Formats: sequence, C-alpha cells, structure tokens
Amino acid sequence: MCGIVGYLGDNPVYPVLIKGLARLEYRGYDSAGISVIENGKLELYKCKGKVADLERHVNGKLQSGFVGIGHTRWATHGPPNDVNAHPHASDSGKLHIIHNGIIENYATLKEELINRGHVLKSDTDTEILIHLIEDIQMRERVDLLEAVRMALNGVIGAYAIVIIDADHPDTLIAAKKSSPLVIGIGEGHNEFYLASDATPLVEYTKNVVYLEDEEIAVVNRKTGLSIRNIKNQEKTPYIQELEIQLEVLEKGGYDHFMLKEINEQPASIRDCLRGRLQLQKGSVTLGGIKDYEQKLVHAKRIIFVACGTSYYAGLVGEYLFEDLARIPVEVEYASEFRYRNPIIGENDIVIAISQSGETADTLAAIELAKAKGATIIGICNVVGSSIARLTDAGSYTHAGPEIGVASTKAFTAQVTVLTLMALGIAHRKGSISDSKFHRSLVELDSIPEKVNQVLEVNAQIRDIANIYKDADNALYLGRGFTYPVALEGALKLKEISYIHAEGYPAAEMKHGPIALIDEEMPVFVIATKGASYEKVVSNIQEVKARKGKVIAIINYGDTVVKELADHTIEIPETDDCLVPLLSVVPLQLLSYYVAVMRGCNVDQPRNLAKSVTVE
Ligand code: M6R
Repeated sequence: MCGIVGYLGDNPVYPVLIKGLARLEYRGYDSAGISVIENGKLELYKCKGKVADLERHVNGKLQSGFVGIGHTRWATHGPPNDVNAHPHASDSGKLHIIHNGIIENYATLKEELINRGHVLKSDTDTEILIHLIEDIQMRERVDLLEAVRMALNGVIGAYAIVIIDADHPDTLIAAKKSSPLVIGIGEGHNEFYLASDATPLVEYTKNVVYLEDEEIAVVNRKTGLSIRNIKNQEKTPYIQELEIQLEVLEKGGYDHFMLKEINEQPASIRDCLRGRLQLQKGSVTLGGIKDYEQKLVHAKRIIFVACGTSYYAGLVGEYLFEDLARIPVEVEYASEFRYRNPIIGENDIVIAISQSGETADTLAAIELAKAKGATIIGICNVVGSSIARLTDAGSYTHAGPEIGVASTKAFTAQVTVLTLMALGIAHRKGSISDSKFHRSLVELDSIPEKVNQVLEVNAQIRDIANIYKDADNALYLGRGFTYPVALEGALKLKEISYIHAEGYPAAEMKHGPIALIDEEMPVFVIATKGASYEKVVSNIQEVKARKGKVIAIINYGDTVVKELADHTIEIPETDDCLVPLLSVVPLQLLSYYVAVMRGCNVDQPRNLAKSVTVE
C-alpha cells in the first residue's frame, strides 16, 4: 500500500507528480503530499485526504520546479492526518523522504534518535528513517548515498523510498526491499520517473528498470542512472520495455473503473486464452510453465497460497485440480501459511496467486516455501511484479491493469489460467479422456461470449440491487465449484457496500447460519444445473420455509427454481467446472449497483488499498 512517485527532468514536475499520484491512488488514499525544489528551496505540501484535496491545498502555488517526490498514503503507523502524511523531513529540513512499507524496528531506532536529540513530529516509522539518514550523514561525515546505504543496513522491514535533497537538486536517491519500485528512463537519458508501479510512467516512456531488493538507485541529471546494493556492490541496470497502453488506465466512458473492469471480462478472458487454448490442435500450452509440466503431472500434492479474492480463485483451483487432474490440493491463506510452520519439502509444488504480485503475505509465503525447497509457480496479473520475479515459473493472467480496489476481471482471469492448467495437466496425465478434454476446450473457448450474454442482465440486476440495497446482512450459498463463488460474492458486497455478508457451502447452512434467516435476509444462491443442482434446490426450500428472500442464479429456462425463488438471474449453461466464470459476474454487478445506490466510493472503498504490501 501507499503509492510513491518521483520525477527529475526538464519538464515542470508538479503536473507529473499529481497525475502520477492520481494513477497510484488505488494503493491508498488516506493522505497525499509532495515535495518540490523551487528556486533552490524544498517546498512541502501535504494533507489528509485524497489527491484532489492535495491539489486544492497546493492551489496553483507550485509552478517552476523540475524535481520532486509525491506520496499517497494507506496508514499503518499513526492515524490519517496532515502531520502523518508523507513526505517527511529531516531535522535540518533539507532532506525529504517518501516511503511505502513498514520499518519494523522503528521503535528502537526512534528511542536512539530521541536520545541523540532528534525531534520527531509524526507517529510514522518513515520519519525515523529520514532522521536516521541525516544523523548518519552528520556523525560519519559521509555523503547522502553512503548515509542511505548505512541506514538501510540497520533497518528491518520493507521499504520503497525516494529521497530528495535541497542541496542537490540534480539528484534523487531511491531504494527498495519487499515493496516495489520502478524507474522510467525518459528521452535523452537525463529524465527519470520513479514510481511504485509503471502506471504513472506509461505516457512518458516505455523504458523501465525494476529495482531489486536491497538495491539503491541514484538518478542524476548529468550522470544518469546508477545502481548499487546495500553491500556497496555496483549493479548494471537491466532496462525492460513496458507493454501497457495508456487507454487501459482510463475509465473509457464508464462511471467507475469497477464497472469498466466487469464489462471487460469477455475481452480479458479471451486475452488470457489467446495462444494458450488451441482448438484446432486440441491442445493447451502455457509457455511460462512448460519446463515444469512433468513435475506438475507427477505432483503428489499442490498447495495454493493467496489472499482475498485470489484465495477464492485458489479454492476454485482446488476443485479443478482435484476433479480433473486428480492431484491432492491444499489452499492456504498466505498469512496463515507463513506463520504456521507448514510441512513442506522438495516434492511440493506451491502455486502463488496474486493480481498485484506485491501482496506482502503471499511474498513471504513464497519465500518460506522456497527456503524449504518447494517448486514455486506464480499466477500474477502485473507483469514484472515482485511475485512474478520471485517464482520459478508462472503464467500471467493478461487481464490488463485492474484499478478498482475490488477485484473482478483479475478473478476470472485467474480462474481461466487455473482451468487451462488443470485441463492441460489432466490430459497429459490421462486422468480425463480425450473426448472430455476436447469438449471442455470447446466449452472454455465459448466462455467469453457467454460472459457477454451474462452482462446483458445488467438492468435486471440493477432492479434487484435497488430492492436489497438497504439490507444489513446477506448470505451467499453455493456448492461444489460454486462454493468459492459464494465466498467471492460475499466479499464483493462487504468490501464496497459495507453490508455484512457471508458465503457458505449451501449444505452447511443448516449447521448454524440458518438461524439468521428471516424475512429481512436476502440469500443469494447459485443454483445452476450440475452435479449438486437437486441438493441446492432443497437448500432453497429450506430458506423459503423460514421466509428468507431468495435471489437465485439459474440457467436459462429453469422453471423449478423460478417457482421457488423471489428473484432469478438467468445465465447460459456450461460445464460444471466452468460455472464460476459465469456465475460470479452477476454477483459482481450486484455488489457494484448496491454500493453505488448506497453512495459508497466504489473504486476506493474505505480502509482498503489495492495492493497490500504490508502484513
Ligand atoms: O493482489 P492480490 O491478488 O495478491 O491481492 C489479494 C487481496 O488483497 C485482494 O484480492 C483483495 O481481497 C481485494 N480487495 C478483493 O477484491
């Protein structure tokens, strides 16, 4: 969480920073701030609230600077207020810092600094770091780069930082560990953009360097970019080409990114299948994991690690891999896995799923599994992200940038990759017949078009949202492949509309949650045709017997559930194992409309951030 941005070049810095912060606002929006060198002086503006509040605060006063840094915050240490907003200044006021991450040993460092006479203004861990750097600079009589290096050697935790120095307006210093930092190299190699991800850079340059852990970069107007690590070894910058297009970062006529992203799913699933599902040849090829195919075919166990929506995609993966490929699967919350001393060894395959590729808990789970010798495969959306780089192999989901904090198209793309993987392995392994494999490929190929058909029920879903928008609670039920979809439906409603919602396996309802059902309780049931259809119909009857309101997702032409339910949403039929890709879409739309009708900030829900880079 937190977005950081920096610029050094020949263009006015303020518009670059503000635009960059707006692009990074999905990472946190508790406060925003910038520091710019104007006429040899460091000018600092920061305030509680969003980037728009910062713009009002600056009120056109920054005009002439060409170097600066900016920050949008998701609060960890200290409440969201003006003082805790970044940038933070050193004692002399000549150094300012922006930071994404957590300095874990900040309490010890703080005590030492206070004992040495430093006066700290904020509650943040970040302020400690800039005081420490200046303290070292003074005591050891070293230059800023060396002071940063020495300070970082004494820091425990995660950081992506950029430091600006009033005495050296031609230079910015940046460093990273466990939080992302990308450097864009502008034309002529004397213009540099620094940011938490590539979205603020795309309109200026395609040439980027992803900083590695414990590396420190110096960008200088005359000498260019140089990198060394905290052990003081020089590194050669590896310049990569960005593939993101600017249009995908705009709302494209939609009211919210979330709605745009829901509607992009036919295209994003198609992009995810492209070149991988070969109908003519009757094959599945996932280039990124080709070298690990045999290992997967012979795997005795696969463990998925992920958080949030990606965890639910992992649960769908469990059903897919066990049903099709007959490989035992465990799905773990990364945050639990990393601290519970898991039994894991060289024969295990760990599949980490993450949209952002930056989730701190998932990264830590990977590191743990790696240390124990497991093979690590990644399923990530953000190209070049930390998880993508840390894994042994992996498949990108190719969903394109997901800006809305609530994950939608990333989920369906993750499930699409998992389906391709499970089908491909199952076929190679012989655990499904040739004919089932080919039938499934044909069906999978038709999913983008079927998602299009699901999106056509938009108006009907809006009407249902209007009826239930004031509910205090909601229950989501699914069975088999749709149980994880029920969990995901409940999470979507919770996170953007703040209605308490729970997902349950439909048959578990009678073991407790049924006590909650009364005429006020909306129960969303995924009741599509398939292995558990009759059982789910019985569960619906149990809800109706207690006067609960049933909103059922059914297949076209189902008259049985239509009779029973208060409202039905009809979607096309598909294979059991592909139902998650269709049935989740109406639930996404429903959450979206409920949130809009309740006046919630759909794209930036309270207390949340898109990529959770702290544990
Ligand atoms: O980037 P990741 O997929 O690793 O993120 C995991 C979760 O933080 C994320 O899915 C979160 O739950 C979303 N807000 C869900 O909509």
